Amino acid sequence: MAVPTTPTVATGPGPPRRPYVLLSCATSIDGYIDDATEQRLVLSNEEDLDRIDAVRAGCDAILVGAGTVRRDDPRLVVRSERLRGARVARGLPPSPTKVTLTARGDLDPGARFFTVGDADKLVYCASPAVGKTTELLAGQATVVDAGDPVDHDRILADLAGRGIGRLMVEGGGTVHAQFLTAGLADELHLVVAPFFVGDCQAPRFVAEGRFPWHPGRRARVAEVRQIGDVVLLRYALSDRCGDW
Ligand SMILES: NC(=O)c1ccc[n+]([C@@H]2O[C@H](COP(=O)([O-])OP(=O)(O)OC[C@H]3O[C@@H](n4cnc5c(N)ncnc54)[C@H](OP(=O)(O)O)[C@@H]3O)[C@@H](O)[C@H]2O)c1
Repeated sequence: MAVPTTPTVATGPGPPRRPYVLLSCATSIDGYIDDATEQRLVLSNEEDLDRIDAVRAGCDAILVGAGTVRRDDPRLVVRSERLRGARVARGLPPSPTKVTLTARGDLDPGARFFTVGDADKLVYCASPAVGKTTELLAGQATVVDAGDPVDHDRILADLAGRGIGRLMVEGGGTVHAQFLTAGLADELHLVVAPFFVGDCQAPRFVAEGRFPWHPGRRARVAEVRQIGDVVLLRYALSDRCGDW
């Protein structure tokens, strides 16, 4: 099979180009984002899923790590017909562009990330795996050489160059930790579900790292909202975050 040409990320000079980055995550009371079983753990409730749907509909792209694509097999589309219609009325595609990143490129072309919806799909891939990943996903996604190691600034610059002004990062923990520790997050939506997981084998919101927010530099709470039995904590992580 012929390997299509691989675009490379934009690195040229010009004005600062980075989308607004909104991180979204749901945790248990004890800070876990999943359990250690094979089943996907549902942390949000229906009302909160509707809220997340509206946040998605307001973004140009949704990013998850390859681990989440493999483990959760998410669809990453706008569920509400009304919200899809409103996007189309604004001249946008019904759902945002789907984005993932991978070092080893071992992604299943049958995953719902690739098969559900008509949105553009972008796979930011570490240089060594670009060839095989491009071949694997031919016709299903655009595989972009994102360097070795993958460079988040370059990814964000490339997304901006593709017209992505607002990016929602939906996990998992590895990806969230990277955006946070790199200081590349403008806003965090953290939903706390009313139960404990209590299993240290389960993944946490983020692993250890040097985060820009610590006891000496506290993040700003922009909003606290009860949504049925969960609580949404919205943190402003940069000056770009307005209080809407
Ligand atoms: N509760 C929530 O809100 C929520 C949301 C999403 C996910 N989750 C949970 O999060 C868990 C998955 O999290 P995770 O941390 O294992 O996976 P992840 O963050 O979704 O993805 C990690 C993978 O992404 C790729 N990657 C990440 N950073 C990279 C970089 N800098 N360069 C190249 N590749 C990079 C690598 O893929 P390769 O292995 O392909 O190289 C890596 O293994 C699942 O249990 C899922 O259920 C929870």
